Amino acid sequence: MIRSLLLLVAALSLGASQKFVASKVCAKCHPVIYKEYMGSMHRNSSVANDPVHRAVWDKHPLKKKEKYNCGVCHTPSDTALTEALAKGEPALPEDNEIQKNEPIGCAYCHRIQSIRTHARQNLNILNETPKYYYAAKDGKSQEEKVEFHKTSSFFGLNRKTSGSPFHTIDYSNKLFSTGHICLGCHDHKQNKHGFAICSMNIKENDPEKHNCIACHMPQIPGSYSTIVKSETHAYHGFAGPHVRPELLRHAVSLEAKNVDGKLRVKIVNHSIHKLFTHPLRLGQLRIEIRRGGKTIEAKPVNFFTLLGHEGKPAMPWVADEVLKTNAIDASSEKVIDTDIPLEKGDHVTLTLGFHIVNPKAAAKLGIDDKEITDFKVLKSETFLF
Ligand code: HEC
Ligand code: HEC
Ligand code: HEC
Ligand code: HEC
Ligand code: HEC
Repeated sequence: MIRSLLLLVAALSLGASQKFVASKVCAKCHPVIYKEYMGSMHRNSSVANDPVHRAVWDKHPLKKKEKYNCGVCHTPSDTALTEALAKGEPALPEDNEIQKNEPIGCAYCHRIQSIRTHARQNLNILNETPKYYYAAKDGKSQEEKVEFHKTSSFFGLNRKTSGSPFHTIDYSNKLFSTGHICLGCHDHKQNKHGFAICSMNIKENDPEKHNCIACHMPQIPGSYSTIVKSETHAYHGFAGPHVRPELLRHAVSLEAKNVDGKLRVKIVNHSIHKLFTHPLRLGQLRIEIRRGGKTIEAKPVNFFTLLGHEGKPAMPWVADEVLKTNAIDASSEKVIDTDIPLEKGDHVTLTLGFHIVNPKAAAKLGIDDKEITDFKVLKSETFLF
C-alpha cells in the first residue's frame, strides 16, 4: 500500500516537473540558434501555435475522447501530457508555457538516442541523463562524453576553451550525422485502420552527405555559440513549406523544351523524399508565356494525394485508400507534355510552388488565413525560345 502510494507520488512529481532543461536556458549561449528556433515549425507545432493543426484537431474524433495522441510527435516536451497519455488518463493540450514556447524543445531533440521502428509510427528513445546532448561534428565521431576544457598556450596569452560549461556533448551518435534523428516523427503515420495517411517514401543514396540535415538545416552565417566561436551554424528555422521554402530551391530543377512545336516541361526532384508529402498540401506548377506584349497563362498542373473511403474523399482518420495521386517521387523526374504551341521569341516562366492547405480542404476546415491558403513559390525560372 505504502509502496504503491510512493510510486504514485513519484509518477505525479515526474509528470508535473519539467523533464527537460527549458530552451530559454540554451538561449544564453546559443542566441542565434534560439532566435531561429522560435520562428520554426518545431516551436509552432502545437494546437496553441499552429492554426492548421488546431483546425484538424478540433474536428478529430480523439478530441471528444480526450486523447491528444498527436502529442507524441507535436508536443513531446510536454511530459505531463505524454505521461498522462501513456497511463491512459485523459490528456488534452493545456495553454501552458511548453505548449506555447517549446512543444518540441532543444533538449528533446538533442537527447534522442535511438529510434524504434513500428508499422503504426516510429518511437523516439531518449537518453536518461540530464544535460547530456548529442551532436555531430566532422572528425569527432569517436568522441563521447566531451566535458568542458580550458587550455592556454604561449605563456597564457592564448586561452581557448572546448566543450560546454553547462552540458556534456556526445558526438558518437550516428543519427546526428545521417539525419535519421528526424525519422522518429517524420517517416510515416498510419491511422487506426492501418492505412498510411502520411509516408515520406524515403529513398537514400548517401545519408552521410545528402540528408535531411544538409537540406533543411543548411550551414548559414552566424556563430553556433557565444563561447566557442564559428563562422556558420546549422539553420534551426528548419526550412520548409511554412518557413523560408526558398532555401530548398536547389533540390528541384525545372526544364522547358520545344518538342514538335509544343512545350514539354520536366521537373526533377533531387530530394530523398516525395514532394508535398502532407495530404493537406497542394503542389502546383504554373506556366506563363510572354509573347509580344501579351502574357498567356496556361492551366496549372496539380500535385496531390487524395485520400478516401468507399470511393469518396475522406478525412485522414476515416481514409483507407488513395483515391488519386500525382505525387513527385523521391529522386525522380516528372515529364509533362503540354499542348501549348511555342513560337520563336517566347519567354516561358515555370513556377513550382504549393498551397500549404489545398483551398478546397481549407474551406472545409474553416481556415481562411491567406498565409496558409495563398500560393507560395518554391522555385521559378524563365526560358527563352
Ligand atoms: C553556459 C553556456 C551554454 C548553455 C547554457 C548551453 N550550451 Fe550548448 N554549448 C555551449 C558551448 C560553449 C558549446 C560548444 C562546445 C564546442 O564546440 O566545443 C556548446 C555546444 C552545444 C552543442 C554541440 C555543438 C557542436 O556541434 O559542437 C549542442 C547540441 C548544444 N550545445 C546544445 C545545447 C542545448 C540543447 C542547451 C540547452 C538545453 C545548451 N546547449 C545550453 C555552451 C552552452
Ligand atoms: C508520428 C508522428 C505524428 C503524429 C502522431 C501526429 N503527427 Fe501531425 N505531423 C507530423 C509531422 C512530422 C508533420 C509535418 C509533416 C509535413 O510537413 O509534411 C505533421 C503535420 C501535421 C499537420 C500539418 C500542419 C501544417 O501546418 O501544415 C496537421 C494538420 C497535423 N499534423 C495534424 C495531426 C493531428 C490532428 C494529430 C493527432 C490526431 C497528428 N497530427 C499526429 C507528425 C505526427
Ligand atoms: C528538431 C530537432 C532539433 C531541435 C528542436 C533543435 N535542434 Fe539543435 N540540432 C539538431 C540537429 C539535427 C543538428 C545538426 C547536427 C549537429 O550539428 O549536431 C543540430 C545542431 C545544433 C548545434 C550545433 C550547430 C552547428 O552548426 O554545429 C547546436 C549548438 C544546437 N543544435 C543547439 C540547439 C538549441 C539551443 C536548440 C533550441 C533553441 C536546438 N538545437 C533545437 C536538431 C535539433
Ligand atoms: C535534397 C534536399 C532534401 C533532402 C535531402 C530532404 N528534403 Fe525535405 N524537402 C525538400 C524540399 C525541396 C521540400 C519542399 C517541397 C515540399 O514541401 O515537399 C521539402 C519538404 C519537406 C517537408 C515538408 C513536406 C510537406 O508536407 O510539404 C518535410 C517535413 C521534410 N521535407 C522533411 C525531410 C526529412 C525528414 C528529410 C530526411 C529524411 C528530408 N526532408 C530530406 C528537400 C529535401
Ligand atoms: C519530435 C518529433 C519531431 C522530430 C524529432 C523532428 N520533427 Fe520536424 N516536425 C515535427 C512536426 C510535428 C512538424 C509539423 C509542425 C506543424 O506544422 O504543426 C514538423 C515540421 C517539420 C518541417 C516543416 C516545416 C515547414 O515549414 O512547414 C520540416 C522541414 C521539418 N519538420 C524537418 C525536420 C528535420 C530536418 C528534423 C531532423 C533534424 C526534424 N524535423 C525532426 C516533428 C518532428
